[in-house]
Amino acid sequence: MDRLTIRTPDDFHVHLRVGAMLTAVAHFTANQFGRAIIMPNLVPPVVTTAHAVAYRARIAAALPTSSSFVPLMTAYLTEDSDPDDVAAGHAEGVLTACKLYPAGATTNSAHGVRDLSRVFGVLAKMERIGMPLLIHGEVTDPEVDIFDREAVFIERVLSKIIAAFPSLKVVMEHITTSDGVAFVESAGANVGATITPHHLEFNRNAMFRGGFRPHFYCLPVAKRESHRLAIRRAATSGAPKFFLGTDSAPHRIGDKESACGCAGIFNAPFALESYAKTFEEENALASLDAFASVNGATFYGLPLNEGTITLERSGSEVPATYGEGADSVVPFHAGETLDWKLLTAPTNFRV
Ligand code: NCD
Ligand code: ZN
Repeated sequence: MDRLTIRTPDDFHVHLRVGAMLTAVAHFTANQFGRAIIMPNLVPPVVTTAHAVAYRARIAAALPTSSSFVPLMTAYLTEDSDPDDVAAGHAEGVLTACKLYPAGATTNSAHGVRDLSRVFGVLAKMERIGMPLLIHGEVTDPEVDIFDREAVFIERVLSKIIAAFPSLKVVMEHITTSDGVAFVESAGANVGATITPHHLEFNRNAMFRGGFRPHFYCLPVAKRESHRLAIRRAATSGAPKFFLGTDSAPHRIGDKESACGCAGIFNAPFALESYAKTFEEENALASLDAFASVNGATFYGLPLNEGTITLERSGSEVPATYGEGADSVVPFHAGETLDWKLLTAPTNFRV
């Protein structure tokens, strides 16, 4: 097979940032996807409906007016989040979901939640109105080994949220472990997970190959090979609980190559080509459409996109960097040639 046409896909987890970075990166996501769930971890974070309206306008301003890309906005949960504001934002079609960051778990999460009981009012409301909760599933307890933080989160926190709110739609974002796969598979149909292209592609050794490689560092951190194989099986299975979320998270080169480097991998320019590589290696190209274009929208209760995109086996050369000097960003697969190439920009169903 030299060409692969699938329904226009969506990205259910992306960081578009603000300012010059937003202008530099938004078109990559808009070129690959019909819609994307936009992460709210700005400084300061997107907490209220009003913040999300303003951020959505900034995203639209960073794209050509002809773009049919639809940003799906999220609100960052804090211990002061107002259940009525969140519900009103959802009812108005501004807020698609809320994001739960345990305080200190990752980039710009200082305003996140320390005491889960403080957000129970919002979670109860979200359960009632069918609004999805997106979770960064890692404990922040420094006593817990960084490679165990996802598994410990499932045991200590996630299982409690699901027990307390059994009908709440929950997406465990960017799962990286066999524990994450097993938990999602054993939970009800209201629990799903996103999987990134980079966690499918490399294990934790990539960070240490011949020296320390900061461009392979993200959170949750990549785990050992057995975990990578588990998420590859889940993603390529076609099972409806698992869907595409790139977690593309650009940082300026100096913020990555630093004594205290930022977590995040910028994969937006060749995200679909990267996923296609994994699916082909697993002999599962036939399941790419379900993973990329059907499962996430169905889970969220969104209409499927109406257009298609086509990938051709003609090769994509990934640049070593984008941008100039201190403002440059190193992409995932920098300097490599990927087998697949996205041919058509997506067209999208507009809600
Ligand atoms: C993300 C970022 O940089 O905003 N970083 C990352 O490593 N994935 C935050 C996140 O999603 O954890
Ligand atoms: Zn993220």
